[in-house]
Parts: sequence; C-alpha cells; structure tokens
Amino acid sequence: MTVPANRRNVFYQQDKLNSLRLILLSDACHSSSCKLFFSNDPVKIVKAKGQYMYDENGRQYLDCINNVAHVGHCHPDIIKAAHEQNQLLNTNSRYLHDNLVDYAERLSKTLPEKLRIFYFLNSGSEANDLALRLARQYTKHEDVIVLDHAYHGHLTSLIDISPYKFRNLEGQKEWVHVAPVPDTYRGLYREDHEDAVTAYADEVKNTIEQAHKRGRKIAAFFVESLPSVGGQIIPPAGYFQKVAEHVHKAGGVFIADEIQVGFGRVGKHFWAFQLQGEDFIPDIVTMGKPIGNGHPLACVATTKEIAEAFAATGVEYFNTFGGNPVSCAIGLAVLDVIEKEHLQAHATEVGNFLMKILKEQQIKHPIIGDVRGCGLFIGVDLIKDQAERTPATAEAEDLITRLKERYILLSTDGPGRNVLKFKPPMCFNMEDAKFVVETIDEILTDMEKECLSQ
Ligand SMILES: Cc1ncc(COP(=O)(O)O)c(C=O)c1O
Repeated sequence: MTVPANRRNVFYQQDKLNSLRLILLSDACHSSSCKLFFSNDPVKIVKAKGQYMYDENGRQYLDCINNVAHVGHCHPDIIKAAHEQNQLLNTNSRYLHDNLVDYAERLSKTLPEKLRIFYFLNSGSEANDLALRLARQYTKHEDVIVLDHAYHGHLTSLIDISPYKFRNLEGQKEWVHVAPVPDTYRGLYREDHEDAVTAYADEVKNTIEQAHKRGRKIAAFFVESLPSVGGQIIPPAGYFQKVAEHVHKAGGVFIADEIQVGFGRVGKHFWAFQLQGEDFIPDIVTMGKPIGNGHPLACVATTKEIAEAFAATGVEYFNTFGGNPVSCAIGLAVLDVIEKEHLQAHATEVGNFLMKILKEQQIKHPIIGDVRGCGLFIGVDLIKDQAERTPATAEAEDLITRLKERYILLSTDGPGRNVLKFKPPMCFNMEDAKFVVETIDEILTDMEKECLSQ
C-alpha cells in the first residue's frame, strides 16, 4: 500500500502512539533492570530471517550483533528439527535417547580428545555455574582468577566472578582475584612490548603468588577465549599456555568460556581457544548462546578425571530440561548447518573482507584507533586522541544511534563502551559488510563535518 503524502504524518504519529503505549505497558510489567536497546526510541521487531530483522512496519534491519542466531534467524533446518522432535517426544534425560548420545558424540569430534564428558544445560550462566562447581570439587580449592571487565553470567556465583558487574555492586569477594586483560592495544603491555605474552602471563603468576601469601588456594582460571564484554579482545597466542602452566602448578584448572565465541565464529577454528595453538587444551569448556540458534541450550565439556571427581561426591546431577531430546535435535541441526553451509570458511572469507575495508576506514577517519578480530568476531576501537587512546564513548553511542536510524543494528562493548562489536549471524555476507562499512563511512564523515562547523 502506498500512503498518500498528506496522510504520512498521521501514520507516523500512529506508529509513535503504538510504540509509546507499548513502552508504557512494558515499563509497568517488566523490571526496570531489564534494558532495551536504543531505549530513547526502541525498535519493535516482529520477525527475522537470516541476518535481517523486521519491525512492525516491515522495515528491514541488518543484524550485526546477534551471535545467538548463529546460523541465521529462523533457519528452516533448525525449525524443522525442533518441530519433528516435538511431535515425537520431549522429556528429561533420565531415559535413554539417541539424540543425547549422538549429540555428545558429534560435539566430541570438534574438541580435543581429552574433553569427552558432557553436561547439557539451558543457559550460559548454568554452564558456567556448573564449571565452577566442577573445578572446586576436583581441586578442593575455592578461589577463582578472572580477567578484568569480564562477564560470565547472571547467577549469584557468576556475578561474583564478573568484574563488569561486581564493580558496581558490593565489590570483590575474598575468593576472587582479578588479572589484567591481555589487551595489546590499550592494556598494561602493548604492541610495542618485547614480550607481552610473558608479561601478561606473569601478571597471573603474580596474582597466584599474592593469593597464596594470604593463604588462599586457586580452583580455576576462568576466562572467555576472546574477551567480548571486555572490548572484543584477541589475547596474544601463547598466553593461555603460559597461564595454564602457572594455574596447574597452583593446583587449579583452566576454564574456557566459549559462550559468545564458539561454534566456528572465528573461522579457521571451531573453538576460539584453538587460536592459541594446538598445544593448548583447557580442562573445562563452557558453551551457550549460538549452540541452539536461539533455543535455550548450553553445555559443559570436561575431562573424565574432573567428571569422576564430581561424581565421587555421590550427589547426583539432575537438570530437568538439560539434554532433552528436542534440545539435542536442535543442537545436532546447528552442527549440520554449520557443516552443510560451510559457515566456518564463510566466516573467514567475509570476516577478512570486513577487517580489510574497516582498516581502510581507519586510514580515513582518525577516530578509528584499532580494528581487531578473527572471522566474524571483530572490534573497532574508537578513540578521541592517538596519544592517549582515550575511549570515544559519546561518539560511539552517537554512531550506533545513527546506524540504527539507517536500519543497521550494531552495539558497543569494552570498559569505555567505545568498541563497536561485530558478531553477526554467520550468514552475514560481503554485500552486508560493504553496506555497513559504507554507512559507517558516511556517518563518520558527517560527524567530522559537524565537529568542524562547531
Ligand atoms: C561470556 C559470557 N558467558 C556467560 C554468559 C551468560 O549466558 P546466559 O545469558 O545464556 O546465561 C554470557 C551472556 O551474555 C556471556 O557473554
């Protein structure tokens, strides 16, 4: 339907009224702790397909951030798998079922041989909480080392190990120790340091020594394989090996949180921890978000020794929904689509292209301080000045607001909320990459002109 020019304003006002009504209703019944994207002018999305989302007026948005819709929003193979299994059976994992065993077997093929025991759960937070329990039971120690600005989930146990959250609450628990982020762009040791890998790993060693002096004992080093909330950081290769050496020596285990970054997102590897080198194997890996393409599913993979120590307590582990036949059918379908559609190779190809054209923008726009990433996990660090690399927080916020006005959904991360984060559905293509970068170029050019005219 074409709306006559003289009626357009009426339609626009009706839209605004509907949105206002929804915001008021939402404010009345949904906790104010739950935040909307673009809260000044939120978007109502009613459907999605692939890498695109559609609002109530049929306007198409390019989704550059939803890593949960890993193989694409509403992928027909995933819907079919869920529907077919739903028609047959959905129950808990106290009965034998092919799906659970098949799924565990398929997942084990993606991981180093040592990680062959699986627990299935419903969310990333559940997975990380269980990882914590496994580590503590196995080591008989309590303490955890985390990286600064990390986020590992919303349960009480995980808020405690998430500096991103606990810094705004009562603070740091005595059993939590914070090590610096191995960020070679704006961290303690930068690209010009002669051996940033050893320097950052020595910080962890130091943290362990300080903890020991206080009579504390380390259960785990808990880390995202690529710190995302921390600012889309790519830890230098070899860092995890050195850290694992220190942590193992202290009797602790290495937990890799792959909840944001696993399942082929980094392109050349299935798991982001593999970027560190073939000689690195974590003791526990946690998975979530992309694993079910939007269906609540999560997993913990660990060694036989750790699982046996956990079972030795005699306390059974039961999870009502974890590992049900529908979830496992969906998990299997996600793995099938990643393979069938060659999404890892696609992530490498499109990711490399996106990095290349973003780096061209870096030469043109001084606000772009750094472009870093791997596959379809990319961060663009916006700065106010080259010398201090001061985060351009307000400018980043302005940029993502203007992108949204042009129907591109992007967001920011990092302690300075100045890092544009790209982690789109894996079907994001070359045309999408070109479109978003051209639009960023136009907006940054406008922002520069506005700045000069002020
Ligand atoms: C790195 C990381 N770990 C764990 C979680 C928690 O996952 P969930 O929200 O599914 O509980 C998140 C969620 O954002 C995350 O980013």
